[in-house]
Amino acid sequence: MKALIASGGRGTRLRPLTHTQNKHLIPIANKPILHYAIEAAVDAGIKQIGIVCNADSREVQDAIGNGKRWGVRITYIPQKAPLGLAHVVKIAEKFIGKDDFIFYLGDNMLVGGVKQYIEQFRQSGCNCFLTLAKVRDPERFGVPEIKRGRIVRVEEKPKKPKSDFAVAGIYIYDRHIFEAVRKIKPSSRGELEISDAHQYLIDKGYQVGFAEITGWWKDTGKPTDLLEANRLVLDNIQPRIEGSVDRSSVVAGKVVIEEGAKVINSVIRGPAIIGKNCIIENSYVGPFSSVGNNSAIRNAEVEYSIILRDCRIHNVRIRIEGSILGNDVEIVDATGKPMVHRFMIGDQSRVEIA
Ligand code: G1P
Repeated sequence: MKALIASGGRGTRLRPLTHTQNKHLIPIANKPILHYAIEAAVDAGIKQIGIVCNADSREVQDAIGNGKRWGVRITYIPQKAPLGLAHVVKIAEKFIGKDDFIFYLGDNMLVGGVKQYIEQFRQSGCNCFLTLAKVRDPERFGVPEIKRGRIVRVEEKPKKPKSDFAVAGIYIYDRHIFEAVRKIKPSSRGELEISDAHQYLIDKGYQVGFAEITGWWKDTGKPTDLLEANRLVLDNIQPRIEGSVDRSSVVAGKVVIEEGAKVINSVIRGPAIIGKNCIIENSYVGPFSSVGNNSAIRNAEVEYSIILRDCRIHNVRIRIEGSILGNDVEIVDATGKPMVHRFMIGDQSRVEIA
C-alpha cells in the first residue's frame, strides 16, 4: 500500500493567505495541514508517499522534505496545471505501479486516522473504497446516491444532491482507477473529475465500497473551515508547558506553551497553543486560539482565532475573535492625532471593525 497526497491548486477561496503560501502549508494548531495527511499515512504503516505539487513552486518540497523525519520516503510528482483530481491520479501512475494506494487530499482533515478504512478495503476486496461524511451542504462536494446499501451514482457538486453525504477526500484504490482516469473526459469546468472516475468504475461493474466517517472530517477550503479544524484539533491537544508563565498569570484548561514563550500577567484559557518565543503580556488568549511562533500579544484579547508567526497585536481594546492573521501581521493602536483607523492591507483582505 502506498499513499498519494494532493497538495497542488491555487487555494483561491483562502486568499489573501494563499497569495504568499500554499494552502496545504497553512498551520492548524501550529502545524501545516499537510502534516496531518502525512501522519495519517505513516500511522497506517505506509512507507512510500507520493505528493503531487504545483510544478512552478518548490514550496511544498522545501517545507516537507524527503520524509526522513517520519521514517518514510516522499516522492514529489509535479503537476503542470490544475487539471483536476483524476489528473492528479493519472500523473502518479508511474509512482504507484501495481500497488494499492490511498489517495488523500492534502487539505482534508480527519480525526482517527485511516487504518480502519484500509482494513475495510482489504477485507471487502473492493476495487475502490470511498469514505463518506454527512454534511449540511452536499452541493459543495462529490455526492453519492445510495440504493440498497450500494453506491449507484456519484455526482460532482450537484445542484440537487441525491443524499446528504459528501464523498470525503480520502479514497482507497487498486490499479483499476488508472483505467478510469485515462478513459474519462474533462468536465464543463475543464477538469478531470475524480467523481467521474468513480462513476466510470461503477458503470464498468467494478466493486465500489464505502464507509461512513463516524468521527469528524473537514475539507479546509474556506476560512471558516480553518477555524473549525483548528477548534477540533485543539480540542484533542495534549497540554504541555515548556515556556515560562509568571506568578500573576493564569493558565487553565488544555494549553500548550512552547519553548521560549513568555506569559506575563495574562490569562490563557485552553484549548490553545502558544508558539515558540511568543510574548503574551497583559492579555487574554481564549479557547480555540493558535498563536504562531515569535508573535507578541500585548494589552489585547484574542479568542477562537488563528494567528500565524511573527504577528504583533498591541493595545487593541476590543477582543479579536473568529479571525485569521497571516504571517508578520500587525494590529496596533493608532498613536497621535487625529484619532483614526489606519490600514495597510494587502489584496483581498477583509477587516471588520466595531
Ligand atoms: C474535491 C472533490 C469532491 C470531494 C471534495 C472533498 O472537491 O472534487 O468530490 O467531495 O474534494 O474534499 P474540491 O474540494 O476540489 O472542490
